[in-house]
Amino acid sequence: MAPQGSISVAGASLVLLLALALQLSVSSLSAAGVVVPPPPPDNCTRSCGKVAVPYPFGIGPGCYWPGFNLTCVGNTLLIGDGTLRVDHIWAHNSTVRVLRSGDIKVQEEANGTGAFGGGLRDDGPFTLSAYTSELVVTGCNVVATLVEQHTNLTRSGCASICTNSADSMEFPSSHKACSFGKGCCQEEIISPFQRMNFDARLKWFGQNRTVDERWEKTRVYVAEKGWYDKQRLVLEEATEVPVQLDWVVEVAGEPAGRRPVPGDDCPSYVNRDVCKSRNSYCMPGRERGYSCSCYIGHDGNPYVAGDGGCKDVDECKQPEEYGCFGECTNLPGTFRCWCPRGTHGNHTVLGGCIKSATVSGATIGIGVASGAGAIILILIVFLFTQKLKHQRKQMLKKKFFEQNRGRLLQQLVSQRADIAERMIISLEELEKATNNFDKTRELGGGGHGTVYKGILSDLQVVAIKKPKMVIQKEIDEFINEVAILSQINHRNVVKLYGCCLETEVPMLVYEFISNGSLYDHVHTHEPKSLSWDDRLRIATETAKSLAYLHMTVSMPIIHRDIKSANILLDDTLAAKVADFGASRYVPLDKTGVTTIVQGTRGYLDPMYLSTGRLTEKSDVYSFGVMLLELLTRKKPFSYLSSEGDGLVGHFSTLFAEGNLPQILDPQVVDEGGQEVKEVAKLALTCLKLTAEDRPTMRHVELTLEGLQAFKRNIIDNVLVERSEDHGTATSGPTTGHPNMKESSRQYSMEEEFLLSSRYPR
Ligand SMILES: *[C@@H]1O[C@H](CO)[C@@H](O)[C@H](O)[C@H]1NC(C)=O
Ligand SMILES: *[C@@H]1O[C@H](CO)[C@@H](O)[C@H](O)[C@H]1NC(C)=O
Ligand SMILES: *[C@@H]1O[C@H](CO)[C@@H](O)[C@H](O)[C@H]1NC(C)=O
Ligand SMILES: *[C@@H]1O[C@H](CO)[C@@H](O)[C@H](O)[C@H]1NC(C)=O
Ligand SMILES: *[C@@H]1O[C@H](CO)[C@@H](O)[C@H](O)[C@H]1NC(C)=O
Ligand SMILES: *[C@@H]1O[C@H](CO)[C@@H](O)[C@H](O)[C@H]1NC(C)=O
Ligand SMILES: *[C@@H]1O[C@H](CO)[C@@H](O)[C@H](O)[C@H]1NC(C)=O
Repeated sequence: MAPQGSISVAGASLVLLLALALQLSVSSLSAAGVVVPPPPPDNCTRSCGKVAVPYPFGIGPGCYWPGFNLTCVGNTLLIGDGTLRVDHIWAHNSTVRVLRSGDIKVQEEANGTGAFGGGLRDDGPFTLSAYTSELVVTGCNVVATLVEQHTNLTRSGCASICTNSADSMEFPSSHKACSFGKGCCQEEIISPFQRMNFDARLKWFGQNRTVDERWEKTRVYVAEKGWYDKQRLVLEEATEVPVQLDWVVEVAGEPAGRRPVPGDDCPSYVNRDVCKSRNSYCMPGRERGYSCSCYIGHDGNPYVAGDGGCKDVDECKQPEEYGCFGECTNLPGTFRCWCPRGTHGNHTVLGGCIKSATVSGATIGIGVASGAGAIILILIVFLFTQKLKHQRKQMLKKKFFEQNRGRLLQQLVSQRADIAERMIISLEELEKATNNFDKTRELGGGGHGTVYKGILSDLQVVAIKKPKMVIQKEIDEFINEVAILSQINHRNVVKLYGCCLETEVPMLVYEFISNGSLYDHVHTHEPKSLSWDDRLRIATETAKSLAYLHMTVSMPIIHRDIKSANILLDDTLAAKVADFGASRYVPLDKTGVTTIVQGTRGYLDPMYLSTGRLTEKSDVYSFGVMLLELLTRKKPFSYLSSEGDGLVGHFSTLFAEGNLPQILDPQVVDEGGQEVKEVAKLALTCLKLTAEDRPTMRHVELTLEGLQAFKRNIIDNVLVERSEDHGTATSGPTTGHPNMKESSRQYSMEEEFLLSSRYPR
């Protein structure tokens, strides 16, 4: 038996050696335990029907990265439990478009809840793609919300209202299929989901119809933006609804609980073994996993090495696309374009290069002979130095661009980097837009810089913020603002069109808001300022956007400098929150971040001032101060009562004594009625010394919305319809309706309706 024993010993040592070798290779990967699957074999099927199947997706064993298993049945590519059909896979932005048959089936037995479903793992690689998706609801007097199952957070919602009076509050709504009162509603999904699975929840309000009618007519869809606008109400039961899902690649065996923060780098093994293409880079996903992208100027699949990977785009081959009709040289990631020798002009348009006027030898001869030779010489020297200057300027522009772009990309969360890339505007364009930053285009200036009005080549009117001085802190603030605003898409937040990175401190380009700031309107010298209704609405809109910043984005944002001067008003007096230079991301699991105190005197949260601990509640405080400003038309930073109290102190004293009218703006007393007291009360809770005692911005939003809703007669409309339906109309849409009280109570119970419905202004 000896020989056998020695064999088994030899075998054992072989195994040991193998194990050792394996261990070595694993530890060279990085942290112990990380498992990277081997690359797929070449013989994998890479299409199904008309749909291409790029890695990490795959059909059949060994062909896909874990979690990206697809099934091909006939010519149909299926994902998950087979109810979702794959329509297109994009590797370059890590998205897949799936088709789902019909609406979300909402069960009456489940209290009006239905799951989106699809059989995809809840904590798997897929999530509904925010920004490209929307919620569509058809039906009458119903509120729908999308609630993420894992977190119970409401990610979107809208209210569909039916009015049958011809003079219903209809407003021209260009390309959207749903308008107010038309029995449907649509709402963007701009808050990113953390997990795959979510429910649609329905609640009816203000009506008493038979249950059957409700169920038959009400449909809930989650669809790619624009789908419903094309569909326009003709919805068949079996319609396939397109919707995009984002995906990330997860690496098994990673330390649990890794939470990517903006600017985080991917571990080196991910850079090497996930983003396999040489010309790709990696971004940590929002919640988990990683996604890869090709470098700018490259295209292909960043997840594969070699030929299928990211390849340099030959821009010269697509003159229309890249606008090069002259001589063209392709360079890695970019290209150079110029007019051929002997021509000059604009090489970005077809036929833009025109023959230069030829200077014949004879004329030169005459010129030299006539003694102009010296002048020509001077001209040549002059041109040469100009050229040197120009070259230096170009080099600086390039250097600043690289620096700023690097900083910007560092701050951005995962996939949204591509948004930023799209937002880059050239210095040349801005110079043209502002007539070389002409004095007459100046809109105003602050400590930070000068704001110019400009018109871009696409005729967009914009405001351009040009910094005055070069201070590192300011550069950081500008980059910070780009990073934050590029993630936000909210109708009450000023829109950032782009930025120019070719100057040392980047310049920011915003939508032009025509009507000045709230500060300008409140502190005018006119006896009357904004009407009470407008003030209340502006406060509500501001609260709405702040609540959004605090809650719905996966990485909450604190504005840090809320004040009337930072609330801009457009021509319809709609509020737009501006100036995010000082704003901060706050990771979800931290309850406050310690920072250097920043803000504006008079609006600054005393608790933050004393501890430096920054929470959302600091914005709530500043908002409270702003409410006082709206109620009193006094300037928070300069107000002093005869007893030497500031605005907040004096206001709360008078409130406690019941002497509020002493300090209120007389116009508010005239127009505001009972609501004024409610708003004053709300303001004072926002101004509580202890941050924990202050309400959340969401609560503030709800309270203000509630106050507003009564003004808008929506309840009346619903009531009229209801009474007409039952043939028991006793009175018109007047406020004296007998059921008013009861119905408004019901109504206020529908908090979620107030939360997210869209009203016309
Ligand atoms: C690919 O080829 C290998 C062997 O060469 C084989 O084992 C495997 O089953 C093939 N895979 C497919 C999907 O055809
Ligand atoms: C891949 O999907 C098919 C069909 O859904 C299933 O039969 C198979 O077990 C899946 N493979 C893995 C590894 O999940
Ligand atoms: C991904 O890219 C495709 C094609 O460029 C585009 O249609 C799609 O909307 C993009 N998806 C996302 C989520 O950006
Ligand atoms: C529906 O709501 C009722 C009352 O709130 C509750 O008792 C019941 O359990 C709910 N049913 C489901 C399926 O959630
Ligand atoms: C979500 O709500 C359900 C039912 O209301 C509850 O059981 C569950 O614990 C909640 N989950 C979270 C994370 O709050
Ligand atoms: C709805 O109307 C029916 C008949 O008009 C009535 O019997 C029922 O009590 C009403 N339900 C509610 C909740 O008002
Ligand atoms: C060239 O023409 C294009 C298109 O008309 C225009 O946008 C661009 O500004 C022009 N460039 C120069 C340098 O004139």
